[in-house]
Amino acid sequence: MAIQVDSYPEEIGEIFDTVAALAPAIREALPGRRVQNDETNPSGETQLAADAYADELFLEELGSLDSVVEYASEERTKVVPTDGKRETGLSVAIDPLDGSSNLKSNNTMGTIVAVYDAPLPAEGADLVAAAYVLFGPITTMMTADADGVTEYLVDDGQRELLEEDVRLPDDPSVYGFGGRVPDWTSDFATYAELVEADESMKLRYGGAMIGDINQVLTYGGIFAYPALESAPVGKLRLQFEGNPIAFIIESAGGRSSDGSQSLLEVEPTDLHQRVPVHVGNDELVEQLETVLG
Ligand code: AHG
Ligand code: MN
Ligand code: MN
Repeated sequence: MAIQVDSYPEEIGEIFDTVAALAPAIREALPGRRVQNDETNPSGETQLAADAYADELFLEELGSLDSVVEYASEERTKVVPTDGKRETGLSVAIDPLDGSSNLKSNNTMGTIVAVYDAPLPAEGADLVAAAYVLFGPITTMMTADADGVTEYLVDDGQRELLEEDVRLPDDPSVYGFGGRVPDWTSDFATYAELVEADESMKLRYGGAMIGDINQVLTYGGIFAYPALESAPVGKLRLQFEGNPIAFIIESAGGRSSDGSQSLLEVEPTDLHQRVPVHVGNDELVEQLETVLG
């Protein structure tokens, strides 16, 4: 789907700068917040102290921007109205720490940001920008807006340009599929066998979607957290994970699917609704839709 975006360059720049500026504080807070707190998030998952800490910081800093009128997060049941003005303001939906279960094993994780110009829960078609901050050996930020996909180094909370007009490589080489193999549907298992039989493809799955997505954007390929026999709508949340990642991948020339349509066309029904996620090179996702069809 060609991404058509109204541009809100100032508002989006302000939101991206604020997210980048918080990266050092969040990364520094991780060592002391690897413990579970006694909360579960609205998706019924155990919450880490780090999840809650990052969420509080984002609400405080993004919520105080004139450009933000609503804040929602994976860690909060309801949308939080903030003090921005609707006529210029935007709605921000955040996964404060994607892959926080990787904190215990010291593997990649980071923050996903979706920026909608509509009240939440909103359609992917209402996205005007999306980004993720990746805590790897270095801290980077991948952004998508009217100018396409751009990668930055985040140094001391400042975005430093690394690459403009990031595009998925034409020759894909990595795949990462979530869920337990015995729990895959027979159609998805058939598709996985086709990918595994391709000698140019190798398995890369790290347990944090944005780490796996960064591999797909770097090397080309496909990431999926599919519908499972035990979870027919999969695991990942549309507002905070599926939509923003689909926006980034489609903006980089790739394709997204819930199994039959672009994730950006999935009807929003609930703030925390889950959706099967498949994103990557166009031909790989098209082949998936044919097999699942
Ligand atoms: P979160 O930590 O925000 O709940 O996200 C974790 C998600 C996603 O990042 C990752 O792809 C997936 O959960 C991993 O799930 P499994 O542990 O089932 O592999
Ligand atoms: Mn997540
Ligand atoms: Mn999370």
